[in-house]
Amino acid sequence: MQKIDKILVGTHNKGKFIEISDLLPKKIEKISPINLDIESPVENGKTFEENSEIKANFFCEKSNLVTLSDDSGLEVDCLNGEPGIFSSRWADELGGFQNAMIKILDKVKKLNKNTNAQFVSSLTIRWPDGKKITETGIIKGNITDIKGTNGFGYDPIFIPKGYSKTFAEMNYLEKLKIDHRQVAYQKLFKKIKVYF
Ligand code: IMP
Repeated sequence: MQKIDKILVGTHNKGKFIEISDLLPKKIEKISPINLDIESPVENGKTFEENSEIKANFFCEKSNLVTLSDDSGLEVDCLNGEPGIFSSRWADELGGFQNAMIKILDKVKKLNKNTNAQFVSSLTIRWPDGKKITETGIIKGNITDIKGTNGFGYDPIFIPKGYSKTFAEMNYLEKLKIDHRQVAYQKLFKKIKVYF
């Protein structure tokens, strides 16, 4: 079995690149698709799993490197799981995450008082020979008014269950230890640690 000494972290999102890189063992070299001039694929899957696999396949085939990709997003219960796989697109279409967060808060306030939500991450590791493994992690929590300046994306409106501060009020390592990518990575790690 060939050990993995470098991994392409298949994302153009800087916040995600840092988080995924920090989940992996330090000794593994992490490569960004940006440094290899590889664009992002069209994400036309219907689930986080499908989109994660689309990204892993695309970046792996373009680079010929073992690739780890994530598709993730925020699902709000009273919005029937929206924005979900469209989390990034809501921000693009509304001119940024501040506006996307305001849209979510307005909708939740108008609809009811159910603020239950969850962050979901599907992580796919794909080898150049076609082998791939996907695992999904979820962290449940509640939507709240915008608080905190750390992190990225929807971090300022999400308080994980059992905590009293948003992801954006936590320091980087506090979030990294518990978030949806960590949950997905722990499941994946059990299956891939033999390659490290
Ligand atoms: P993707 O690159 O298509 O997977 O987009 C996922 C989007 O979901 C990101 O751009 C963020 O908006 C959001 N998202 C995913 N994970 C997180 C997180 O840990 N914190 C905040 N927002 C996140």
